[in-house]
Parts: sequence; C-alpha cells; structure tokens
Amino acid sequence: MKKLITGGLITTATDVYEADLLIENGKIVQIGKNLLAEGAEIIDAAGKYVMPGGIDPHTHLDMPFNNTVTDDDWKSGTIAAAFGGTTTILDFCLTAGEEKLGPAVEKWHEKAKGNSVIDYGFHLMIGELTPETEAELPVLLEQEGITSVKVFMAYAKEFQASDRTLFKAFKIAKEVGAVVMVHCENGSVIDELVEEAKQAGHTAPIYHALTRPVELEGEATKRAIELAHIAGAKLYVVHVTCKEAVDEIIAAREKGYDVYGETCPPYLTLDQSALAQPGFEGAKYVWSPPLRPKSHQTHLWNALKAKQLQTIGSDQCSFSFNGKKQLGLNDFSKIPNGGPFIEDRCAILYSEGVAKGKISINEFVDMTSTSAAKIFGLYPQKGTIAIGSDADIVLFDPTVKREISANTHHMNVDYNPYEGWEVTGEPVSVLVRGEYVIKNKEFVGVLGSGQYIKRQLTPTTVEVINI
Ligand code: URP
Ligand code: ZN
Ligand code: ZN
Repeated sequence: MKKLITGGLITTATDVYEADLLIENGKIVQIGKNLLAEGAEIIDAAGKYVMPGGIDPHTHLDMPFNNTVTDDDWKSGTIAAAFGGTTTILDFCLTAGEEKLGPAVEKWHEKAKGNSVIDYGFHLMIGELTPETEAELPVLLEQEGITSVKVFMAYAKEFQASDRTLFKAFKIAKEVGAVVMVHCENGSVIDELVEEAKQAGHTAPIYHALTRPVELEGEATKRAIELAHIAGAKLYVVHVTCKEAVDEIIAAREKGYDVYGETCPPYLTLDQSALAQPGFEGAKYVWSPPLRPKSHQTHLWNALKAKQLQTIGSDQCSFSFNGKKQLGLNDFSKIPNGGPFIEDRCAILYSEGVAKGKISINEFVDMTSTSAAKIFGLYPQKGTIAIGSDADIVLFDPTVKREISANTHHMNVDYNPYEGWEVTGEPVSVLVRGEYVIKNKEFVGVLGSGQYIKRQLTPTTVEVINI
C-alpha cells in the first residue's frame, strides 16, 4: 500500500521545505510539490514537521545490572521509544568478564525477537579480552553487521576493563573499521572514594554524585582519547556530562583526532541538587556519570551547537523507585544506576532546545537522528528524508503543550525524572518502514515488526601514528 504525506514541512539536518512525500514498499520514493499517487492512503501533515525518525544510540533494555535487571524490556521500551518519535535504537549487548561474545549476541537477539516494534541494532560490550575473544571479535562484528564496540572505564566491580583491553579494543576496531564507545570515568578511584564515604557513615543518594567528581570523568576522557589516537581508532565518548570532559574532546578534535561525543537530556536540563532532595527522593536521579552542578549545562549546549558533541542518547536504563531504587535505601552505592529517558529524549531536546531558541530545528534532527546514523553506519538508509531511504518518519506537531508524568508515560517504571514538566511539541504519528507504529497518538504497531539492522563496517580515515 502506498502512502502519500501531503502538505507537511519536510525537515532534515539541513533543510526545511514544504513538499509531499510518497512511500512505497517501506521506502521514500518521491518528494515534490502536489504529488499524485493513485490508490495511495493520504496523510494530511499540514502544520507538522515531517522528520526522519529518531535514532537513539544508547539504550539498555532488559539488561542485568547492579544486582538487578532494568525494568523496561524490548516490548515496553520500544513502544515508549516510538511514542517519543524514535524509530531505531542501538542497544548494548552485554558480556561479563571473559565471557565468549557470540552467545551474548545470540542472547540479545532472543530478547529483541518478537518484541521490538521499531528497528534496532546492537553495540557489542566487551569486558576483558582473552586470546579467544580477541580472535572472535572481528569475525563476529563482520558476521553480525555490528559497527560499534563498547568498553567501560567505570564500574570497577562489574564491567570495568583494563587499559590494556581498552587499547586492544581500539586496535581491533581500527583494523575492521568499527567505532569504540567508551564510558569515561575512572572506576578504580571512584571505588576508593565510595569506600571512604561509606566508612565515614554516609548513606544518602547525594554521595553517589560526591564520590564521582568531574575530574575523574575528565581524566578518563583524556586517557581514552590518547589511547584511541595511538591505536589510530575512532572514539565515541558516551554520556558526556561536564566541562572537564567537553574540553578534552574539543582539544582532541582541534588536533584532528577522530573523536565524537554524546550527551543526554538530563545532563542538559537537570542538576546535582536533584540528588540532595529530602528523604530518599534523590535515588530517582542516580545514574552514572552523575548529574553535575548547573554551570556545566552551558558547556554542553555550546558544544552541541558547535558540533563538538554530535548526538543525544537517552541512556535508557530504567529502575522503578519502589523495589529497585530502594535496594539502596541504606547504602547509596547499592542504588541501581540509571534512569528512564527513552520516551522523552526528543521531547526534552525539542522543548528545552528548539522551542527555547538554543538550537535550530535542523540541529535537533541532526542530534537526535542524522549524526547517529552517520557515526554508526546506518546512513542514508536511516537518519534522513531522501529518496531511497527507509520511510521511518515522524509527523511532529510543534504547537502542542503537554505535561510529562509517570501516569501517562509508556515506560514500565513508576516515576519520571521530569514529572510535572510542561513540554512543547509532540510526535503525532510515527511510521517505521512505511508502517504506522503510532497513529494519531495511539499505538497501532505490531510486536516483533522491528527489524534487526546489519550495518556496514567502514575503515577509519585517521592516520596511524608509528610507535
Ligand atoms: O547509570 C547509567 N548510565 N546506567 C547505564 C549504564 C551506563 O553506564 O551507561
Ligand atoms: Zn555508561
Ligand atoms: Zn548507558
């Protein structure tokens, strides 16, 4: 069945113009004025932006973490994502320690299959590389069409990799043309600071932030940058939160290093004081790196505007307050790390960014969709409105005002960090490969209709330095 979207404002990372758009067999086949298409379903988009579907490059669905498991799985998580205007997610396939990689990827396919209502791919997280997994990694990336590897410099007790493994990951990634995503915090020193705080009798959520200072994010970011550079690899720094990390990324990029950075809605809009609320309320705002003092937000907005940071990830990693966050009631270090953002990622960026004049609508599309498509090998199949691209399309009403609330959101958690916030703008209808998932604000999708997307490895362009 053909679909003809008429009278909307086609909006990409570079343009806004009025035109009709014809969809056939899941692809965009024509864009132009006054298009005619016999038998096509007509979708009136007058007054709406017609945008490429959002690409969320950072999600953790159904993920075991911090002695529990995230509350949104592939069903609730992808439905919530679709309501928020996201049509593709890239989720972290987790491995632990020296575990073999292939079975982990199989496990992740099982989680998603039959449940996802939007398209998806995986980043492959590695713990410590062994000779066996070192050999397995490049073959698996090629076979599975995975273009991104994830390494943690944080979480000393769970996921943290040695610098040697990090460096080896960079070298393998360079060989095969993958990007390495790194969580940049010095996990060993944080572990020490956490122990000191506990010895001193501190139990409250605010100590989560106080034991993870910005210097330890800046230091780890600098270390990752230098190791990636020596290996000649492409680095993507996940969830950048502070001036100290932004400055390192800017300095590296100015030297021509192949470094990219992501930030997330809460770091742009919420601050450390949220963790210091009375009682245990601050636990709702515990994730890593932590929220920072408000002064850091300007640096993040400026870096996004200057394209020194390129993407907005949700870092969706949801734990309900009752039952899950409360695991840390008497010990801040036991509060599961993470928050629910998959649904409101675009809403917060549009409302706080575009509607308040901080960024343009084109920059919004770039940060929420196009840049991620380019960095992770999805472009131009996804991430833009162009002939031949997948018809992953959001009809976005920029005039609607609504309130965010856990009572109305679609995520499987009992709170929303933005409870009571009034936001401007809302996706009205969302299509994935030409099929409605959200139609006039109602979910009409089909469980399991989301497809796994194999991506193309591309060798980096950075010159290898001789060591
Ligand atoms: O606290 C967070 N961010 N949880 C998810 C895991 C990670 O570090 O990305
Ligand atoms: Zn992280
Ligand atoms: Zn994360």
